[in-house]
This record gives sequence, C-alpha cells and structure tokens, in this order.
Amino acid sequence: MEYALEVIDVHKRFIERSEVPPAGMMPPEAGAVAAGATGAADPAVAAGGAGVRAGARSGGAEPAARGVRRWLRRAPLEEVRAVDGVTLRVRRGEIFGILGPNGCGKSTLVRIVSTLLLPDAGTVRVFGHDAVREPHAVRRLINRVSVEAAFFKKLSSWENLCYAARLYGLSPRAIRAEVARIAERLGLPWEKLFTSMEHLSRGQQQKVAIARALLTSPVLLLLDEPTTGLDPRSKRDVQRFVEEVRREHDATILLTSHDMDEVERLCDRVAVMNEGRVIAVDTPQKLKQRYGGPGGTLEDVFLRLTGRDWEEVLANEA
Ligand SMILES: Nc1ncnc2c1ncn2[C@@H]1O[C@H](COP(=O)(O)OP(=O)(O)OP(=O)(O)O)[C@@H](O)[C@H]1O
Ligand SMILES: [Mg+2]
Repeated sequence: MEYALEVIDVHKRFIERSEVPPAGMMPPEAGAVAAGATGAADPAVAAGGAGVRAGARSGGAEPAARGVRRWLRRAPLEEVRAVDGVTLRVRRGEIFGILGPNGCGKSTLVRIVSTLLLPDAGTVRVFGHDAVREPHAVRRLINRVSVEAAFFKKLSSWENLCYAARLYGLSPRAIRAEVARIAERLGLPWEKLFTSMEHLSRGQQQKVAIARALLTSPVLLLLDEPTTGLDPRSKRDVQRFVEEVRREHDATILLTSHDMDEVERLCDRVAVMNEGRVIAVDTPQKLKQRYGGPGGTLEDVFLRLTGRDWEEVLANEA
C-alpha cells in the first residue's frame, strides 16, 4: 500500500544551553525573562539577548551584560531530543492528528515533513518521495500552515495571496476566482482582503495563512495548530473547510492541535506524542476506550498518556 506519508524512525536533536543564567547576574527585567524562558526555542539566546539589550538601555547594568556573555561562553550545552525515533504511517485521504504537550516535538516533526528541517536520522516519504533526497518533489505535494505564518506585512492579504498563487503558476483570472471563493468559505470579510496584513487581527491573519495554503490544492496539507487563536465561529469555518478540502480535493491532512474537540471532530486517527516519541496511535474512539477510563474523554486520554506515570498507564493497558 502506498501511504500519503511515511515517517520511519525519525530523530532530530537540538543543542541548547542547559541552564538559564543565575538571576543575580542580570538586571531585574532580564532576570524575569530568563526565568520564563525555559520553554523558548533557545533559552540562552532569549535570556542573553534580553540581558544585553537591558544592559545597553540602562547603561549602569553593563557589568551584568558582561556577566551574561561570560556565562554564555561557559554554560554547559545540552542535547534536546525534540524528535526521538518517531514512526508514523498516514493513509491517503486521512485526517491524521498529533496531540501532545508543549515542547513534545510536534512542530519539529511537521517541519521535517515539510523539508524545512533535515532529520538527523530516519526516513520521511511523501507519496513515495524521500523528503531528504527529493525535497523538490515533496514540496510540490505539500503545503504547511503554522501558527507563526510569515507574510509581507505591509502588503494586503489579497497581494500576499496573489503573490503566493503566482509563485505556484496560477493564472491571474484563476487567482481572482479562487481567492474570492476561499475567503468567503473561511468567513474572511471581503474588505479585509485589501487591508495591509499588519492591520489584521491574529485570527484574520491565520485565515489568510490557511487560504494561502489551500490556493495550491496541496495533496498533503500540514496544519500546525491551524485554529489556535480563532474564535469559535472562525474555528468552525476552518474545520468545515478542512473537511471540504479532504472531500473535494482528495487531500491528506496532518494536523496538530491543542483543541481536543477539534481533534475528535476532524481526525480519523490520532498519534499522542510525549517527549519526542509517539506513545499511542489509534482512532479517537479507541484511544478513549483504551486509555480514557470509564466515560473518558480525549482530554482524559491526553492527561493520562502525557502525565508523569504514562509508562505505567501504557503497561497496564497493553
Ligand atoms: N530551532 C530550535 N533550536 C533549539 N531547540 C529547538 C528548536 N526548535 C525546537 N526546539 C526544541 O525542541 C523541542 C520541541 O519543540 P517543538 O516546537 O517541536 O514542540 P511542539 O510539540 O510543537 O510544542 P507546542 O505545543 O508548544 O507548539 C522543544 O524542547 C524546543 O525547545
Ligand atoms: Mg508547535
């Protein structure tokens, strides 16, 4: 059977500073940043940058900035196993969900599939094409929407969408019709199409990002938290549209989300990730039966499989 997506024993590690600088080393406001930086992509950079900037601003804090720099040179490096041996197979036409706590490796995995990151080890195949050896073939088949989508902020959404569509070779006439159709389906007000991106709300920007990904009718659509920050009606608009894309364009969809109702509503199967690993894959129904306890919800499944005693939970249910 040819799968839409095969992820086989994929690993990805990042090198990070293992500690944040001691609070006494920095001016108070930088200390606050460092204390909250443990979940950031690179705490050392976040903390160091804030320390240096704060030092430059306040003048008198210069020795503190020097202290941070010295600390940065000597601070121990630590390996973060963002993706630690993940294997997944997504069938053609499936909506496949990935659930897991913050920092468990979902976005890293999605970036690897979308060829934006190279895996350290393992294989990713999109409709049989190897993501490392044939990235161009893979890029023709996929599109990705992430929470931090990048745009030309000074241009309007219309201009951004047209730019993307031209890159993909759509004709101007086709672009006009398609942009109008998608904007309407997503509930994006017509006049907002002509407002510069920086003046749109986060939710509106997110809809433009989704519209852009759908313009090209990708065969595999990678949606990394597509509805985070959207109001309930907008969420429904996007969810309905995702279903429509699957139905009418025969697309396969990989979706990460922190919204359990959304996952349950949309996904045929769900992988639960924790600490870079996939610990369970099944339909939402079966996951609930197996790990949710009596009358359990998907949230119960999430809490049990990503809690401190998740290994025990798995062992008991095996
Ligand atoms: N470019 C990077 N450099 C260093 N570490 C990184 C980088 N990108 C991700 N990480 C680390 O890899 C781990 C996984 O991050 P990732 O963004 O994949 O998590 P996530 O599951 O998408 O989390 P969330 O639910 O918060 O979006 C985290 O510990 C993160 O700090
Ligand atoms: Mg993420």
